[in-house]
Amino acid sequence: MKVVLAGGTGQVGGILNRALTAEGHEVVVLTRRPVRDRDVRWDGRTLGPWTETIDGSDVVINLAGRSVSCRYTEGNLREMMDSRVNSARVVGEAIAAARRPPRVWLQMSTATIYAHRFNEPHDEATGMIGGTEPGVPGYWAFSVEIAKKWEQEQERARTPHTRRVALRSAMVMSPDRGGVFDYLLWLARLGLGGSVAGGAQYVSWIHDRDFVRAVEFLIDREDVAGPVNLAAPSPLPQRAFMGALRSARGIPVGLPAAKWMAEIGAFVLRSDTELLLKSRRVVPGRLLEAGFAFDHPEWSQAAVDLVRRVRQERSRT
Ligand SMILES: NC(=O)c1ccc[n+]([C@@H]2O[C@H](COP(=O)([O-])OP(=O)(O)OC[C@H]3O[C@@H](n4cnc5c(N)ncnc54)[C@H](OP(=O)(O)O)[C@@H]3O)[C@@H](O)[C@H]2O)c1
Repeated sequence: MKVVLAGGTGQVGGILNRALTAEGHEVVVLTRRPVRDRDVRWDGRTLGPWTETIDGSDVVINLAGRSVSCRYTEGNLREMMDSRVNSARVVGEAIAAARRPPRVWLQMSTATIYAHRFNEPHDEATGMIGGTEPGVPGYWAFSVEIAKKWEQEQERARTPHTRRVALRSAMVMSPDRGGVFDYLLWLARLGLGGSVAGGAQYVSWIHDRDFVRAVEFLIDREDVAGPVNLAAPSPLPQRAFMGALRSARGIPVGLPAAKWMAEIGAFVLRSDTELLLKSRRVVPGRLLEAGFAFDHPEWSQAAVDLVRRVRQERSRT
Protein backbone atom coordinates (compact mmCIF):
# COMPACT_ATOMS: atom_id res chain seq x y z
CA MET A 1 0.00 0.00 0.00
CA LYS A 2 0.98 3.61 -0.39
CA VAL A 3 0.25 5.31 2.93
CA VAL A 4 0.41 9.07 3.47
CA LEU A 5 1.08 10.12 7.06
CA ALA A 6 0.17 13.79 7.43
CA GLY A 7 1.91 15.17 10.54
CA GLY A 8 3.79 11.87 10.67
CA THR A 9 7.02 13.14 12.27
CA GLY A 10 5.81 12.95 15.88
CA GLN A 11 5.40 10.14 18.41
CA VAL A 12 2.43 8.37 16.81
CA GLY A 13 3.74 9.01 13.29
CA GLY A 14 7.07 7.43 14.22
CA ILE A 15 5.34 4.31 15.55
CA LEU A 16 3.18 3.91 12.42
CA ASN A 17 5.99 4.78 10.00
CA ARG A 18 8.34 2.15 11.46
CA ALA A 19 5.68 -0.56 11.55
CA LEU A 20 4.21 0.06 8.09
CA THR A 21 7.64 0.46 6.45
CA ALA A 22 8.84 -2.79 8.08
CA GLU A 23 5.84 -4.54 6.53
CA GLY A 24 6.88 -3.34 3.08
CA HIS A 25 4.41 -0.50 2.56
CA GLU A 26 5.43 2.76 0.93
CA VAL A 27 5.09 5.51 3.54
CA VAL A 28 5.18 9.22 2.67
CA VAL A 29 5.23 11.83 5.46
CA LEU A 30 3.75 15.31 5.11
CA THR A 31 5.71 17.72 7.31
CA ARG A 32 6.44 21.43 7.61
CA ARG A 33 10.16 20.63 7.82
CA PRO A 34 11.10 17.86 5.37
CA VAL A 35 14.49 16.26 6.08
CA ARG A 36 14.22 12.58 5.18
CA ASP A 37 13.84 10.85 1.83
CA ARG A 38 10.13 10.29 1.95
CA ASP A 39 9.25 13.62 3.57
CA VAL A 40 7.09 16.00 1.54
CA ARG A 41 6.58 19.64 2.49
CA TRP A 42 3.16 21.01 3.34
CA ASP A 43 1.97 23.76 5.64
CA GLY A 44 -1.02 21.90 7.11
CA ARG A 45 -3.32 24.71 5.96
CA THR A 46 -3.33 25.23 2.21
CA LEU A 47 -3.42 23.10 -0.92
CA GLY A 48 -0.13 22.82 -2.81
CA PRO A 49 2.09 20.40 -4.74
CA TRP A 50 1.94 17.98 -1.75
CA THR A 51 -1.58 16.97 -2.83
CA GLU A 52 0.03 14.86 -5.59
CA THR A 53 1.13 12.40 -2.89
CA ILE A 54 -2.51 11.87 -1.91
CA ASP A 55 -3.68 11.33 -5.48
CA GLY A 56 -3.16 7.63 -6.12
CA SER A 57 -2.43 6.69 -2.50
CA ASP A 58 -4.31 3.87 -0.78
CA VAL A 59 -4.54 5.25 2.75
CA VAL A 60 -4.25 8.71 4.32
CA ILE A 61 -3.72 9.06 8.05
CA ASN A 62 -3.78 12.62 9.40
CA LEU A 63 -1.98 13.08 12.71
CA ALA A 64 -1.08 16.77 12.47
CA GLY A 65 -1.70 19.04 15.42
CA ARG A 66 0.19 21.28 17.80
CA SER A 67 1.39 19.21 20.76
CA VAL A 68 -1.04 19.18 23.71
CA SER A 69 1.85 18.87 26.14
CA CYS A 70 2.09 22.60 26.84
CA ARG A 71 0.62 25.27 29.08
CA TYR A 72 -3.00 25.82 28.07
CA THR A 73 -2.63 29.56 27.45
CA GLU A 74 -5.10 31.28 25.16
CA GLY A 75 -2.54 31.36 22.35
CA ASN A 76 -1.60 27.69 22.71
CA LEU A 77 -5.25 26.59 22.85
CA ARG A 78 -5.94 28.55 19.68
CA GLU A 79 -2.97 26.91 17.95
CA MET A 80 -4.08 23.47 19.18
CA MET A 81 -7.48 24.11 17.60
CA ASP A 82 -6.34 25.74 14.33
CA SER A 83 -3.61 23.21 13.52
CA ARG A 84 -6.07 20.32 13.86
CA VAL A 85 -9.08 21.88 12.15
CA ASN A 86 -7.05 23.37 9.27
CA SER A 87 -5.09 20.20 8.57
CA ALA A 88 -8.23 18.02 8.60
CA ARG A 89 -9.96 20.51 6.28
CA VAL A 90 -7.12 20.65 3.77
CA VAL A 91 -6.61 16.86 3.78
CA GLY A 92 -10.34 16.54 2.99
CA GLU A 93 -9.98 19.06 0.15
CA ALA A 94 -7.00 17.20 -1.27
CA ILE A 95 -8.88 13.88 -1.19
CA ALA A 96 -11.96 15.51 -2.75
CA ALA A 97 -9.84 16.89 -5.60
CA ALA A 98 -7.89 13.67 -6.24
CA ARG A 99 -8.46 11.83 -9.53
CA ARG A 100 -7.61 8.55 -7.76
CA PRO A 101 -8.71 9.12 -4.16
CA PRO A 102 -7.49 6.84 -1.35
CA ARG A 103 -9.89 4.13 -0.22
CA VAL A 104 -9.68 5.17 3.42
CA TRP A 105 -8.90 8.31 5.44
CA LEU A 106 -8.09 7.77 9.09
CA GLN A 107 -8.30 11.04 10.96
CA MET A 108 -6.75 11.28 14.41
CA SER A 109 -9.14 12.41 17.10
CA THR A 110 -8.88 11.80 20.83
CA ALA A 111 -10.42 9.92 23.75
CA THR A 112 -10.51 13.33 25.47
CA ILE A 113 -13.72 14.02 23.53
CA TYR A 114 -15.65 12.12 26.25
CA ALA A 115 -16.87 13.58 29.52
CA HIS A 116 -14.83 13.57 32.74
CA ARG A 117 -16.53 10.82 34.71
CA PHE A 118 -15.71 7.96 37.03
CA ASN A 119 -18.69 5.61 36.97
CA GLU A 120 -19.77 4.39 33.52
CA PRO A 121 -17.18 3.70 30.82
CA HIS A 122 -17.61 5.50 27.48
CA ASP A 123 -18.04 3.46 24.33
CA GLU A 124 -18.98 5.03 21.00
CA ALA A 125 -22.68 4.19 21.28
CA THR A 126 -23.49 5.12 24.87
CA GLY A 127 -20.55 7.34 25.86
CA MET A 128 -21.18 10.94 26.81
CA ILE A 129 -19.39 13.65 24.87
CA GLY A 130 -17.79 16.11 27.30
CA GLY A 131 -17.97 19.87 27.62
CA THR A 132 -21.06 20.24 29.76
CA GLU A 133 -20.16 18.21 32.85
CA PRO A 134 -20.34 20.26 36.06
CA GLY A 135 -17.38 21.21 38.23
CA VAL A 136 -14.57 21.04 35.68
CA PRO A 137 -12.42 23.96 34.50
CA GLY A 138 -13.79 25.80 31.46
CA TYR A 139 -10.73 25.11 29.37
CA TRP A 140 -11.34 21.34 29.63
CA ALA A 141 -14.50 22.06 27.64
CA PHE A 142 -12.29 23.77 25.06
CA SER A 143 -10.25 20.58 24.61
CA VAL A 144 -13.51 18.74 23.90
CA GLU A 145 -14.49 21.49 21.47
CA ILE A 146 -11.19 20.99 19.63
CA ALA A 147 -11.92 17.27 19.27
CA LYS A 148 -15.48 17.92 18.08
CA LYS A 149 -14.41 20.48 15.48
CA TRP A 150 -11.60 18.17 14.35
CA GLU A 151 -14.10 15.37 13.71
CA GLN A 152 -16.61 17.74 12.11
CA GLU A 153 -14.04 18.75 9.49
CA GLN A 154 -13.72 15.13 8.48
CA GLU A 155 -17.49 14.56 8.48
CA ARG A 156 -18.21 17.57 6.31
CA ALA A 157 -15.55 16.75 3.69
CA ARG A 158 -16.94 15.69 0.31
CA THR A 159 -15.08 12.45 -0.27
CA PRO A 160 -17.65 9.95 -1.57
CA HIS A 161 -15.09 7.38 -2.71
CA THR A 162 -13.10 7.39 0.53
CA ARG A 163 -14.20 5.70 3.74
CA ARG A 164 -13.66 7.93 6.76
CA VAL A 165 -12.76 6.86 10.30
CA ALA A 166 -12.08 9.13 13.29
CA LEU A 167 -9.56 7.58 15.68
CA ARG A 168 -10.62 8.48 19.24
CA SER A 169 -7.31 7.34 20.64
CA ALA A 170 -6.25 7.04 24.25
CA MET A 171 -2.59 7.65 25.19
CA VAL A 172 -0.35 5.49 23.04
CA MET A 173 2.21 3.75 25.24
CA SER A 174 5.50 2.97 23.49
CA PRO A 175 9.10 2.61 24.67
CA ASP A 176 10.25 5.63 22.60
CA ARG A 177 12.29 8.37 24.20
CA GLY A 178 10.17 11.46 24.79
CA GLY A 179 6.87 9.52 24.57
CA VAL A 180 4.21 9.40 27.30
CA PHE A 181 5.44 6.12 28.76
CA ASP A 182 9.03 7.40 28.93
CA TYR A 183 7.80 10.47 30.78
CA LEU A 184 5.75 8.45 33.30
CA LEU A 185 8.67 6.10 33.88
CA TRP A 186 10.93 9.08 34.53
CA LEU A 187 8.49 10.46 37.10
CA ALA A 188 8.28 7.04 38.79
CA ARG A 189 12.09 6.78 38.93
CA LEU A 190 12.20 10.17 40.65
CA GLY A 191 9.88 8.70 43.31
CA LEU A 192 6.93 10.69 41.98
CA GLY A 193 4.93 7.76 40.61
CA GLY A 194 2.20 7.93 43.23
CA SER A 195 -1.43 8.94 43.11
CA VAL A 196 -2.29 12.45 41.96
CA ALA A 197 -5.19 14.25 43.63
CA GLY A 198 -6.40 10.97 45.18
CA GLY A 199 -5.79 8.91 42.01
CA ALA A 200 -9.42 7.89 41.41
CA GLN A 201 -9.44 9.43 37.91
CA TYR A 202 -9.34 6.79 35.17
CA VAL A 203 -6.46 6.44 32.74
CA SER A 204 -7.18 5.12 29.26
CA TRP A 205 -4.22 3.80 27.34
CA ILE A 206 -3.28 1.59 24.40
CA HIS A 207 -0.11 -0.41 23.83
CA ASP A 208 1.77 0.78 20.71
CA ARG A 209 1.60 -2.60 19.01
CA ASP A 210 -2.16 -2.83 19.54
CA PHE A 211 -2.45 0.73 18.23
CA VAL A 212 -0.70 -0.28 15.00
CA ARG A 213 -2.75 -3.49 14.75
CA ALA A 214 -5.99 -1.55 15.31
CA VAL A 215 -5.05 0.95 12.58
CA GLU A 216 -4.33 -1.91 10.17
CA PHE A 217 -7.59 -3.60 11.17
CA LEU A 218 -9.50 -0.38 10.41
CA ILE A 219 -7.73 0.01 7.06
CA ASP A 220 -8.93 -3.46 6.08
CA ARG A 221 -12.45 -3.40 7.48
CA GLU A 222 -14.55 -1.89 4.70
CA ASP A 223 -17.63 -2.00 6.92
CA VAL A 224 -16.33 0.30 9.67
CA ALA A 225 -16.66 4.09 9.35
CA GLY A 226 -17.11 7.03 11.73
CA PRO A 227 -15.69 7.40 15.25
CA VAL A 228 -13.83 4.42 16.74
CA ASN A 229 -12.29 4.29 20.23
CA LEU A 230 -8.68 3.11 20.24
CA ALA A 231 -8.15 2.16 23.88
CA ALA A 232 -7.38 -1.05 25.74
CA PRO A 233 -10.54 -2.61 27.21
CA SER A 234 -9.34 -2.11 30.78
CA PRO A 235 -8.84 1.55 31.73
CA LEU A 236 -7.96 1.82 35.42
CA PRO A 237 -7.75 4.46 38.16
CA GLN A 238 -4.57 6.54 38.07
CA ARG A 239 -3.44 5.19 41.48
CA ALA A 240 -3.55 1.58 40.24
CA PHE A 241 -2.12 2.57 36.86
CA MET A 242 1.00 4.13 38.42
CA GLY A 243 1.24 1.25 40.93
CA ALA A 244 1.42 -1.29 38.10
CA LEU A 245 3.99 0.82 36.25
CA ARG A 246 6.15 1.04 39.38
CA SER A 247 5.94 -2.66 40.01
CA ALA A 248 6.87 -3.41 36.36
CA ARG A 249 9.99 -1.26 36.87
CA GLY A 250 10.70 -2.48 40.43
CA ILE A 251 10.09 0.85 42.16
CA PRO A 252 8.48 0.18 45.55
CA VAL A 253 7.29 3.67 46.49
CA GLY A 254 5.66 6.57 44.74
CA LEU A 255 4.93 9.76 46.63
CA PRO A 256 1.31 10.84 46.38
CA ALA A 257 0.76 14.36 45.07
CA ALA A 258 -2.07 16.70 45.96
CA LYS A 259 -3.75 18.67 43.19
CA TRP A 260 -1.78 21.82 44.01
CA MET A 261 1.50 19.89 43.80
CA ALA A 262 0.49 18.56 40.39
CA GLU A 263 -0.23 22.12 39.35
CA ILE A 264 3.25 23.28 40.35
CA GLY A 265 4.81 20.23 38.66
CA ALA A 266 2.87 20.79 35.45
CA PHE A 267 3.87 24.46 35.47
CA VAL A 268 7.56 23.60 35.88
CA LEU A 269 7.33 21.01 33.08
CA ARG A 270 5.46 23.47 30.82
CA SER A 271 2.54 21.06 30.67
CA ASP A 272 -1.05 21.06 31.92
CA THR A 273 -2.84 19.23 34.73
CA GLU A 274 -5.78 18.26 32.49
CA LEU A 275 -3.56 15.48 31.18
CA LEU A 276 -3.28 14.11 34.76
CA LEU A 277 -6.59 15.00 36.35
CA LYS A 278 -9.30 14.37 33.77
CA SER A 279 -10.93 10.99 34.25
CA ARG A 280 -10.88 9.17 30.91
CA ARG A 281 -12.76 5.91 31.17
CA VAL A 282 -12.91 4.98 27.51
CA VAL A 283 -13.48 1.48 26.15
CA PRO A 284 -13.18 0.03 22.62
CA GLY A 285 -16.83 -0.84 21.93
CA ARG A 286 -16.70 -0.87 18.15
CA LEU A 287 -13.30 -2.56 17.82
CA LEU A 288 -14.40 -5.44 20.07
CA GLU A 289 -17.74 -5.70 18.29
CA ALA A 290 -15.94 -5.92 14.95
CA GLY A 291 -13.84 -8.81 16.29
CA PHE A 292 -10.54 -7.06 17.11
CA ALA A 293 -8.53 -8.96 19.74
CA PHE A 294 -6.05 -7.00 21.86
CA ASP A 295 -2.60 -8.54 22.39
CA HIS A 296 -2.17 -6.33 25.47
CA PRO A 297 -5.56 -5.89 27.12
CA GLU A 298 -4.31 -5.51 30.74
CA TRP A 299 -2.09 -2.67 31.93
CA SER A 300 0.03 -4.68 34.40
CA GLN A 301 1.16 -7.03 31.63
CA ALA A 302 1.50 -4.24 29.04
CA ALA A 303 3.69 -2.22 31.44
CA VAL A 304 6.00 -5.23 31.96
CA ASP A 305 6.36 -5.58 28.19
CA LEU A 306 7.08 -1.86 27.74
CA VAL A 307 9.68 -1.78 30.53
CA ARG A 308 11.39 -4.80 28.96
CA ARG A 309 11.52 -3.05 25.57
CA VAL A 310 12.78 0.21 27.12
CA ARG A 311 15.65 -1.75 28.73
CA GLN A 312 16.37 -3.61 25.50
CA GLU A 313 16.46 -0.45 23.41
CA ARG A 314 18.51 1.57 25.91
CA SER A 315 21.07 -1.24 26.22
CA ARG A 316 21.63 -1.00 22.45
CA THR A 317 22.31 2.77 22.49
N1 LIG B 1 0.38 10.53 21.50
C1 LIG B 1 -0.76 10.07 21.94
O1 LIG B 1 -0.79 9.21 22.83
C2 LIG B 1 -2.07 10.60 21.36
C3 LIG B 1 -3.29 10.12 21.86
C4 LIG B 1 -4.47 10.61 21.32
C5 LIG B 1 -4.45 11.55 20.32
N2 LIG B 1 -3.24 12.00 19.86
C6 LIG B 1 -3.23 12.98 18.76
O2 LIG B 1 -2.60 12.36 17.65
C7 LIG B 1 -1.82 13.28 16.92
C8 LIG B 1 -0.40 12.75 16.83
O3 LIG B 1 0.12 12.61 18.15
P1 LIG B 1 1.67 12.67 18.44
O4 LIG B 1 1.87 12.29 19.84
O5 LIG B 1 2.41 11.97 17.36
O6 LIG B 1 1.89 14.24 18.32
P2 LIG B 1 3.25 15.01 18.08
O7 LIG B 1 4.41 14.14 18.46
O8 LIG B 1 3.12 16.35 18.76
O9 LIG B 1 3.26 15.19 16.49
C9 LIG B 1 2.27 15.91 15.83
C10 LIG B 1 2.77 16.38 14.48
O10 LIG B 1 1.92 17.44 14.05
C11 LIG B 1 2.67 18.35 13.29
N3 LIG B 1 2.28 19.72 13.67
C12 LIG B 1 2.49 20.35 14.85
N4 LIG B 1 1.98 21.60 14.81
C13 LIG B 1 1.46 21.75 13.55
C14 LIG B 1 0.83 22.82 12.87
N5 LIG B 1 0.65 24.01 13.47
N6 LIG B 1 0.43 22.63 11.60
C15 LIG B 1 0.64 21.45 10.98
N7 LIG B 1 1.26 20.39 11.56
C16 LIG B 1 1.66 20.56 12.84
C17 LIG B 1 4.13 18.15 13.58
O11 LIG B 1 4.79 17.82 12.35
P3 LIG B 1 5.88 18.79 11.65
O12 LIG B 1 6.46 19.66 12.73
O13 LIG B 1 6.86 17.83 11.07
O14 LIG B 1 5.14 19.55 10.60
C18 LIG B 1 4.19 16.94 14.52
O15 LIG B 1 5.09 15.97 14.15
C19 LIG B 1 -1.93 14.61 17.66
O16 LIG B 1 -2.87 15.41 17.00
C20 LIG B 1 -2.40 14.21 19.06
O17 LIG B 1 -3.20 15.21 19.65
C21 LIG B 1 -2.07 11.54 20.35
